[in-house]
Amino acid sequence: MSVTPPLSLPGGASLLRGDAARAVAALRLRALAADLPDGLTVRLMELADSSRLADFRVRVVSMLEDPDHYRMVGEIGDFVADHLGCGGLTAGIFRKGALVAYGALGLPADGDANRGRDLDLPEAELCRVAHLSSAMVDPGERGRGLHHRLIDWRIAVAEALGRRHLVTTVSARNHRSWSHLTAHGLYPKRLVRVGGDLVRLLLHRDLTGDPVFDPASAELVAVEDLADRWDIFERGQVWGRVTAGEGMAVDGAGGAARWYALCGRQRQAR
Ligand SMILES: CC(C)(COP(=O)(O)OP(=O)(O)OC[C@H]1O[C@@H](n2cnc3c(N)ncnc32)[C@H](O)[C@@H]1OP(=O)(O)O)[C@@H](O)C(=O)NCCC(=O)NCCS
Repeated sequence: MSVTPPLSLPGGASLLRGDAARAVAALRLRALAADLPDGLTVRLMELADSSRLADFRVRVVSMLEDPDHYRMVGEIGDFVADHLGCGGLTAGIFRKGALVAYGALGLPADGDANRGRDLDLPEAELCRVAHLSSAMVDPGERGRGLHHRLIDWRIAVAEALGRRHLVTTVSARNHRSWSHLTAHGLYPKRLVRVGGDLVRLLLHRDLTGDPVFDPASAELVAVEDLADRWDIFERGQVWGRVTAGEGMAVDGAGGAARWYALCGRQRQAR
């Protein structure tokens, strides 16, 4: 059994990695396992699952309704190896032995790529960053709350491991994905360029205190325009996804849903 030395924190505390982090993550899987829809099981994935995870990802990406929703070139490092080894943790959900969903949490160490830098977090905070690196659900299993459960699990694990900064990047057009994350307190706070020239929303939640939206600053931006609206992030951030105004979804009446990002600033403490 390999033992990875814990990361040292300023002030003498340490962060768990490697097998110790896996033990914490496995414990937190119990809640997820107890609440899964019938026929599904969950377990931590291992390096021996590498091909299974890689094949599943290629299959899901090949079926995306919009190729911009997920581009592997926007990922950091060697995704599969990093998230099945000591650099991260991945929960896999299975039906009859077949992988049908996963959620991966990246635990960057000193010297690793760290999205906290894109947020200008102080250097001393970077060891407290966890990346909600990626989640995918088989099209046949969607709409059953698997993504939401995998987000919950990753937040619980990051918290248990002392990583207060939850960070991820998402395509602005992938509003289903980023709106699920906003529902768990991870808000788009910036636009960043990743993997060359891809523009992505940078989402962040600091577990030590959740910001409150100032409704007086509310502004709606059509999700298809969001990647060009760098100005929004000079004034505030995105708080969630709404349907509103003309062109709103009229199910059964042939109308396509129009989705908007609810933007605005944080309410200042009095
Ligand atoms: C984005 C993606 C991960 C969503 O997965 P999913 O499992 O269908 O998501 P969920 O079932 O948790 O949520 C979907 C809907 O089901 C609803 N739902 C149904 N049952 C639910 C339950 N038991 N608990 C919570 N939500 C439930 C949710 O409210 C949600 O509604 P909304 O989209 O209007 O907010 C999936 O579409 C996917 O794999 N896409 C391709 C890859 C990708 O884009 N990955 C994310 C990149 S970061």
